[in-house]
Amino acid sequence: MQIFVEKDYNAVSEKASEIILNCIRENPRIVLGLATGSTPEKTYKLIAQNYKKNKLSFKEVKTFNLDEYLGLENSHKQSYHSFMKKNLFNKIDINIKNTFFPTEFISPGKYEQQIKDNGGIDLQILGIGRNGHIGFNEPYSSFKSKTRKVSLTKTTIKDNSRFFTNRKEVPVMAVTMGINTIMQAKKIILLASGKNKQKAVLNLITNKISNKNPASILWTHKNVIFLIDKACIKK
Ligand code: PGA
Repeated sequence: MQIFVEKDYNAVSEKASEIILNCIRENPRIVLGLATGSTPEKTYKLIAQNYKKNKLSFKEVKTFNLDEYLGLENSHKQSYHSFMKKNLFNKIDINIKNTFFPTEFISPGKYEQQIKDNGGIDLQILGIGRNGHIGFNEPYSSFKSKTRKVSLTKTTIKDNSRFFTNRKEVPVMAVTMGINTIMQAKKIILLASGKNKQKAVLNLITNKISNKNPASILWTHKNVIFLIDKACIKK
């Protein structure tokens, strides 16, 4: 794992967007694994700005989102479908038919097959939860897990509640790419920013590999870039 400590959130987002754009320039038919949440928002904004300026085409790009809530319509403002449209898909020339979400492939093995049929994920973008989750693979998820329905932990539900006006609306279940599915990606960039990710970052950097900390499995992947900012490590 290569670790880069950047000045702040903007610098993390700049670097992440550069890496992603370079990968697309090298391979216009790239298959991307996409994360949602507040961390990658600015990265997507920079990618969209670059599209406006340079018209680097996404027509041949395919995307597989990491996760999606269960119990929300795709059109709900807080669904990850809506997040992706608002932050990226509506701003670039991607063909929406080339964008995939795990809620459309819930049966065991179906999302993995779809990923495989499209050549596998070349570059996976990940955030990290305060509890060390990647996607919605919460602590103690199996490292062998594939795409499946999951119950969200109290910490995650609480963290997600900031996006909802009514606490009762906050989903308690989701479909997530499995840890094993994520690990099949050829290259991974993990992003973390801010003081509230300190514990998760410290755990990942200093503790042993354990399914108590799902992100720790990334140490066994041969091509991972971990982009963090100073606030993640400053006392
Ligand atoms: P966040 O979520 O980017 O909103 O902090 C990250 C995650 O839970 O993976």
